[in-house]
Amino acid sequence: MADKALFEITEDHLETGLRGVPVGYCTTSKVDPELGLHYIGRPIAELAEKDPEEVIFLLLDKRFPDEEELRRFKKELLANAGVEKAVFDSLKALPRDGHPMKWFLHAINALGMVEGADDYSKDALRLIAKVTTVTAAIFRIREGWGEPIEPDPELGYIENFVHMLGVPGLDEEGTKKLTHLMRVFDVLHFDHGGGNLSAFTGKAVASGLADMYESIVGAMCSLAGPRHGKANQECLKFVEECVEKVGGEVSEEAVEKMVRERLANKELIFGFGHAVLRVEDPRATVFCALGDEICADDQNFKMVQTLRSVVPGILKENPKISSPYPNVDLGSGTLLHACGLDNPDYYTVLFGMSRLVGIAIQILYERNLARGGKGLPIIRPKYLFNETGSAAQ
Ligand code: MLT
Repeated sequence: MADKALFEITEDHLETGLRGVPVGYCTTSKVDPELGLHYIGRPIAELAEKDPEEVIFLLLDKRFPDEEELRRFKKELLANAGVEKAVFDSLKALPRDGHPMKWFLHAINALGMVEGADDYSKDALRLIAKVTTVTAAIFRIREGWGEPIEPDPELGYIENFVHMLGVPGLDEEGTKKLTHLMRVFDVLHFDHGGGNLSAFTGKAVASGLADMYESIVGAMCSLAGPRHGKANQECLKFVEECVEKVGGEVSEEAVEKMVRERLANKELIFGFGHAVLRVEDPRATVFCALGDEICADDQNFKMVQTLRSVVPGILKENPKISSPYPNVDLGSGTLLHACGLDNPDYYTVLFGMSRLVGIAIQILYERNLARGGKGLPIIRPKYLFNETGSAAQ
């Protein structure tokens, strides 16, 4: 059978970050430029309010669990949620002023040393089960909130995460709000196709047969950059700056003036644009609808909604901008802040806690199932020799 030509590579594709170049299959999710993210063919907006465990099962098994399967899956996650004291002790020795994402990298690496089974399938499940426990411990130890809190066997995956966080001063109503937000946040961030930088990196590291923990550390290093996961932290800072600039009254006119001034000063506008999407990111739409429900009066949230209606029109005036629409980061940090997680330095960690679910499942496919179970070969693309380096100018 003749190979079907999917794509013709020309010199114009070199040094463009492999943009649009097909390299394999993704069996968990798809990002359509016009329709946005789908998990196993289901639009993300339809999944946003589901049990996170149900959606993890969907990504793993490509179908929803029945009631009994879901009950057993929740039990299995809980049974694996405990974390050895050695991991917590190693966290306690870290410099407090190290960025939380560096703590997260350390925590996954330490988990791998203590809990790793050198089996992609077992390790994926363990890592997914333990990541909430270890993330909560990072907050508690680094912020000085106290000792890590044990998972409660009566609680679900994210309910337990919020319980283990034990945010000081959060009352019952606040806990309810934060739990609702974190359930949605987790589901929205699980996966985003096969080619986003962290998923691609994780699979590339695993292609050398590094174990699941090492591969996820690699993936999370990619997520740590401001062009990828750290954009949610940067975006809240941007929204706060906008609120400060515009003052109490958040009118479209005032925001438009401020945005135009920023652009004229060559300052960045965060929360807009995407490598693949050519419409408003459906995850941004979900976050904004949730914000209307849980923090409509929050100043930052009012700014987010105003930016959302003003900025695309302004960016569209520049024909070079192909993606002027809100992305997932526009509202996520603002909602976390409004629900009691007010330090933006942790937002990329929360993104990573969720995203490693999809990446681990993608690695499982590439290692254990692809090519009739043989797995994919080591990643080894070709670079053209260029002695002068002039192409890099
Ligand atoms: C996202 O969630 O939007 C990403 O991981 C970025 C991407 O898809 O390239």
